[in-house]
Amino acid sequence: MTSIFSPGGIAAGGVVGDVPVWAQLVDLFVAICFVLALKGLSGPKTARNGNMLGAAGALIAVVTLFFAHPGMKNLPLILGAMAIGIVVGYPAARRVQMTAMPQLVALFNGVGGGAAALVSVIEFLDAGMTESKGVLAATVFTVIVGSVSFTGSILTFLKLQEAITTRPILIPGGQYLTSLVGAAALVFAVWLVVTPAIWILVVLLVLSALLGLLLVMPVGGADVPIIISLLNAFTGLSVAASGYVLGNVLLIVAGTLVGASGTLLTKEMAKAMGRPLTNTMFGAFKAQTASAGTGGGEDRPVKSAGPEDVAIMLGYANKVIIVPGYGLAVAQAQHQIRELVDLLNERGIEVDYAIHPVAGRMPGHMNVLLAEANVPYEQLKEMDEINPEFSSTDVVMVVGANDVVNPAAKSDPSAPIYGMPILDVADAEQVVFLKRSMRPGFAGIENEILFDPKTTMLFGDAKESLTKVVTAVKAM
Ligand code: TAP
Repeated sequence: MTSIFSPGGIAAGGVVGDVPVWAQLVDLFVAICFVLALKGLSGPKTARNGNMLGAAGALIAVVTLFFAHPGMKNLPLILGAMAIGIVVGYPAARRVQMTAMPQLVALFNGVGGGAAALVSVIEFLDAGMTESKGVLAATVFTVIVGSVSFTGSILTFLKLQEAITTRPILIPGGQYLTSLVGAAALVFAVWLVVTPAIWILVVLLVLSALLGLLLVMPVGGADVPIIISLLNAFTGLSVAASGYVLGNVLLIVAGTLVGASGTLLTKEMAKAMGRPLTNTMFGAFKAQTASAGTGGGEDRPVKSAGPEDVAIMLGYANKVIIVPGYGLAVAQAQHQIRELVDLLNERGIEVDYAIHPVAGRMPGHMNVLLAEANVPYEQLKEMDEINPEFSSTDVVMVVGANDVVNPAAKSDPSAPIYGMPILDVADAEQVVFLKRSMRPGFAGIENEILFDPKTTMLFGDAKESLTKVVTAVKAM
């Protein structure tokens, strides 16, 4: 039977032969679920349902595959692999701390890209020499992009876990080495399509894996969000290409959706960071001297105060802006911040939250965190909307944020975050920082604002500090 929903003739010995009409209709239904899931994920109110819809669609797709292909090869192996995936993945996803979610996403993303590459390798070993040039080209594409995504995501995982430095890792001539490895991968890719051979595939795999590492190594901490979404797009594209290799249209649809949305997210992220993608990936080579202003800040004097002093500053202000950052998530202080803002509101003080697009460690991190504490969505103001407000603000309270308010992004061309738009907290009358030490943020660079005469430090874990400030405001 000619399939309306799988490019029948291109299947290369995988599970897809003739797909029954009922299964094609289920696939169509699942594809619609995926599109609606993405639509749902685009807004905070509908995100949970969108997520459930996408997960349900994926489950239906997997179950359908078994019923539509009763004679499936290697069934015990497939079921065994799925069981291992569930046993490892389910508890990992359930137990993960909110702050470690980005690492988990990076890991899952890498595994997705690696799986797509492996599928193509196995298809090649199965039927490679007899494949059409079109399928071979798709195989080669999956191997390159999937492997880049795999090793790149693992390195990103290590950076997010802070298991390795979050600063750019630069090797002499790195930019040229990356171009050389990229060009060599391209040559071997064409060679493999023209004269398929296993040794060429092995060389291509090694070159692609190396390319993934070389591309991510020079990316500085502050640019990690961009690279995550780029690798996410890569995984989507490699999955789509592996769908072509397998003759599975649903994989093509799902992969293309991930690839397209990942590409759009990368574009948005790069725009939010105020720099082109090439700058993110190769900018560090141009700014090798960037380390000039880092570390050592502990020796310089700063003004610090206790929770009662901060309570007085806040309690007698007319207008306050809260800048949440990654430290708020670490401290899990979202409920305390909400309590404090409610108290200030009761005293007639105007309070808003300033949300930087890359605050935290994943897109929308602060929105999710504050939504957990039922902070009204209207109080959250995007960067462009809130920046003009700082100059008429009495007190800005920065809770566990650092890079997103660092003026080096504007003033120091050698800084790895140079060009990134920031929240202009220095325009306010007074700035209070809640953090535990003088340590820098994720980008690893010192923040001059901490030493500004208008800045007051309230040292300590944000949850403990906020609890004390709340008690002090109540006592006023
Ligand atoms: P950071 O610049 O990383 O600063 C976080 C601050 O929180 C640190 O200075 C830390 O100082 C403080 N902190 C940590 N735990 C704390 C606790 N328990 N109580 C109080 N303070 C605590 O965060 P940011 O300003 O949100 O900027 C985000 C950074 O991550 C940017 O560089 C961004 O590019 C990068 N990034 C973002 C994403 C996405 S998509 N959002 C993804 C990956 C990377 P102490 O150690 O002194 O307490």
